[in-house]
Amino acid sequence: MSSLVWVELDAGSPDHNLCEIRGSNKFKGLHCAVVKSNAYGHGVREMVSLLTRADWLAVNSLEEGLELRTLGETRPVLLLGHVPLSRIDEARQADLRFVICNFETLQAIRELPVSEKMFYLHMKVETGTWRQGVLPDDAILMARDIAEMPGVVLDGIYTHFANIEDTLNHQYAEMQMDTFQRVLDALQDEGLTPPVIHTACTAAAILFAKTHFSMIRTGIGLYGLWPSRETKLSAESSGCTIPDLRPVLAWKTKIVQIKEVPAGSYIGYGGTHRTTRNSRIAVLPVGYADGYRRSLGNTGWVLIAGRRAPVLGRVCMNLCMVDITDLQGISLEDEVVLLGRSDCEEITAEMMGEWMGTINYEVVTGISSLLPRKIRKGAEGVY
Ligand SMILES: Cc1ncc(COP(=O)(O)O)c(C=O)c1O
Repeated sequence: MSSLVWVELDAGSPDHNLCEIRGSNKFKGLHCAVVKSNAYGHGVREMVSLLTRADWLAVNSLEEGLELRTLGETRPVLLLGHVPLSRIDEARQADLRFVICNFETLQAIRELPVSEKMFYLHMKVETGTWRQGVLPDDAILMARDIAEMPGVVLDGIYTHFANIEDTLNHQYAEMQMDTFQRVLDALQDEGLTPPVIHTACTAAAILFAKTHFSMIRTGIGLYGLWPSRETKLSAESSGCTIPDLRPVLAWKTKIVQIKEVPAGSYIGYGGTHRTTRNSRIAVLPVGYADGYRRSLGNTGWVLIAGRRAPVLGRVCMNLCMVDITDLQGISLEDEVVLLGRSDCEEITAEMMGEWMGTINYEVVTGISSLLPRKIRKGAEGVY
């Protein structure tokens, strides 16, 4: 392996996690894998090849959807983010289903000539997250409009929960479900119910079977990460089968210099760490340009041969330094685990998130897409 910083993906874990999430509430319907933002930083090309049991894929942007088609993906793809009005025909021609939540997009569709390809729309209903979504009363008007448009199919309807992973009290999510259900009832009264109904992100899919409808739309759990501590606690007290989620990703590098540093030396930019003893430091070729955030300076840890080494001083753009004074037998180009397991020690995305003052979602999504992704197949090794 030539690269000095890389991401390893465990081949069996994505499908394993998918089955575990389905198993927690015995879900039998469609499973949409959310692979937006480079598959939460894991590498979209690799993740879609490993997620063989996902029925649908969801991404944010038109560009991401087109990339999936270029990769040869034939599964239904849903675009969750706004498609520029000037480019909606590209989505139609590439068989990309997309969110509809404003009447301007509907008007732009109306102005295009009917083609042999159909528009497949998924109406997103505002139920309390107050970001993207059509107001409940407007949802009925929108569905009526779509029903009268040739070449346009209302293929799905969905909503997204605001705080289901943040709390042990799910009253707000219940209120969102009630609002969504009222829209579904009104559509049903008019015979306008679309075939694919979906509300459940990972937390909802694990915790509440009643959020499942015909499809679940999960992201973080497929990567083997829990949405939050609260979600796990809620699951443990709810009586559902606790999914055995296995982190898919490890992030690694190699030592590029080892150096003896006298006591009283200032390490790195700004001199934010001063050694209190004669020390040995290892220089690592990873920095904030790779997604190894500056906030890890003087707070983060790495693993070398199963032992922890603290980050000293500020993280630079392409380098950082760690203290290996107490570790014996370390050599140039030894492997360093930034995220993942090394013997009996582990650095999880949750730990790194705490050091960085953020959540596991942001930790993994922030890993640079420029780094190579390698797939590890058990005993067969890394590719
Ligand atoms: C609209 C939508 N659906 C589903 C998901 C997946 O959520 P999770 O990763 O918590 O499963 C996201 C994530 O941001 C989302 O924005």
